[in-house]
Amino acid sequence: MDIKSQIDLNKLPEHIAVIMDGNGRWAKQFGKVRIFGHKNGVKAVRETTEAAAELGIKYLTMYAFSTENWGRPKEEVNALMTLLVGTIRKEINTLMENKVRLQAIGDLKNLPAKCYKELTEAIEKTKNNDRMTLILALNYSARWEIVEAVKKLTTDAKAGKLDPATVDSALISNALSTGGIPDPELLIRTSGEARISNFLLWQIAYAELYFTETLWPDFRKEHLYEAIVNFQGRERRFGKTSDQLHQN
Ligand code: FPP
Repeated sequence: MDIKSQIDLNKLPEHIAVIMDGNGRWAKQFGKVRIFGHKNGVKAVRETTEAAAELGIKYLTMYAFSTENWGRPKEEVNALMTLLVGTIRKEINTLMENKVRLQAIGDLKNLPAKCYKELTEAIEKTKNNDRMTLILALNYSARWEIVEAVKKLTTDAKAGKLDPATVDSALISNALSTGGIPDPELLIRTSGEARISNFLLWQIAYAELYFTETLWPDFRKEHLYEAIVNFQGRERRFGKTSDQLHQN
């Protein structure tokens, strides 16, 4: 049986998050500069988005640029920003045709002006699309987002708009940049690295983590299917025992 037909369409994760990793190492295999890997990573972004939308996944979040990535060589950062702007421009019609809504999380205002403009225009243009939401994490880090949420909540408390006694998990979830978006049930990281790298720390509390050796530019629809089949074979206990789950 091929891998796609092993997927149970009634048990799909509603939200999948992806840490795209290994572009630099992929380029190195061919003796090329790192940006060659990023350019080839765009095909993997397209394939993953297409496969997720076709299956009926509702939210797909991709870690495209972290707040720590500014520390990379200037040429790489500039090339990544240019690639982002170019990709958004090139893909906007496909997003519209496939009814994919684009959103972004992160410190967007501090992106280069051109990047911010292209991004916000694409977000506005696709805002009524309802098949799937593609969320780009750009200039994002989970600790940055948590700091921002704490600032917002403490400011509200100081202004008398929030009673500290009412602070709960749902309120914190809503104060994050993913407010209103369900938590990812499945987190995929490519390239064999097994760490979270400051991505969605709060939101992945109960996510299943899936690490694959595949380098991001090699990631194709079949790799996504494999991750989903693996996810569906796991028992998600949310702190309960296996027996308790099977009693209900
Ligand atoms: C990690 O590989 C990859 C990135 C930091 C950038 C991901 C960006 C793209 C795939 C470009 C286009 C994206 C969109 C959403 C249009 P790495 O450079 O850390 O690789 P390495 O670990 O092998 O050095």
